[in-house]
Amino acid sequence: MRHFLDLASAGADGIAAILNDALDAKAARKGWPKGRADADASLAGHTLACVFEKSSTRTRVSFDMAMRQLGGSALVLDAGTTQLGRGETVADTARVLSGYCDAIMVRTDDPAKLDEMTRYASVPVINGLTDHSHPCQIVADLLTVIEAGKALPGLKWAWLGDGNNVLHSIVEAGALMGFDVVAACPEGYDPAPAVIEAAGGRATITRDPVAAVRDADVIVTDTWISMGQAHAEQKLAAMAPYQVDDALMAHAKPDAVFLHCLPAHRGEEVTPEVIDGPQSLIWPEAENRLHAQKAILRWCFGLVG
Ligand code: CP
Ligand code: NVA
Repeated sequence: MRHFLDLASAGADGIAAILNDALDAKAARKGWPKGRADADASLAGHTLACVFEKSSTRTRVSFDMAMRQLGGSALVLDAGTTQLGRGETVADTARVLSGYCDAIMVRTDDPAKLDEMTRYASVPVINGLTDHSHPCQIVADLLTVIEAGKALPGLKWAWLGDGNNVLHSIVEAGALMGFDVVAACPEGYDPAPAVIEAAGGRATITRDPVAAVRDADVIVTDTWISMGQAHAEQKLAAMAPYQVDDALMAHAKPDAVFLHCLPAHRGEEVTPEVIDGPQSLIWPEAENRLHAQKAILRWCFGLVG
């Protein structure tokens, strides 16, 4: 049994296998109706419980559709309408859901809750985002960059803004797949030092957005205020110099691509000209969440890698 808790838990070989499976399965479905199961329906009869303690559009719909296309089904459970919302423990929930379902996806705040779910579940557990990381998103991002014709080893990825959960997973991906990540973050909003240290020199932090973007292949940003954080004017002011606009993009390689996990705030972390411009890959990136989830699920059940 495999849990998909962070990219490192799959390892470089696991991530490579997941990416290849996603690319193959996506190609094999060309022209099929979105609701029709894949020809091999490889998870027929399987059910995924998706537990959301935070909002979601992409993760929620892509996991549900992923299970339908794999021939199975998903139950989307908002914590607030389950007994979790009334104080039933994660440990008890894990044991109960394991009796009904074949896998559990969790979106929560504290990574300790994901650990607790994993410890007590007897089925695979998938990290659908915590305050610390967002590994499923980065599998979709890697797919999107590969589809843009860029081999991952040796690339330079530039991150602008908040040193958050999405950045943590990009840094982890860089260390596993052999690309560099330069994160431009204002003082006080750096990523976790342990995450940078674990990348073994592949990840660096700068205060200078131009230095981060210079000659970069991939430019990434995210909301300045993540779910669960207070909307603080002080934070928005600190982030302002890190907005991705055309002037900043001009320092990247001419064929650089722009990524954003969404939801976006046009006029804050990115200008409309960039996010809706020719270098932006946000729509294929969002669609790739579906293809990524399918491969992650298949990996959890030992059908990949
Ligand atoms: N990118 C992402 O995880 O989107 P949702 O919050 O809509 O799931
Ligand atoms: N950093 C964002 C990502 C949303 C998909 C958040 O945690 O809210």
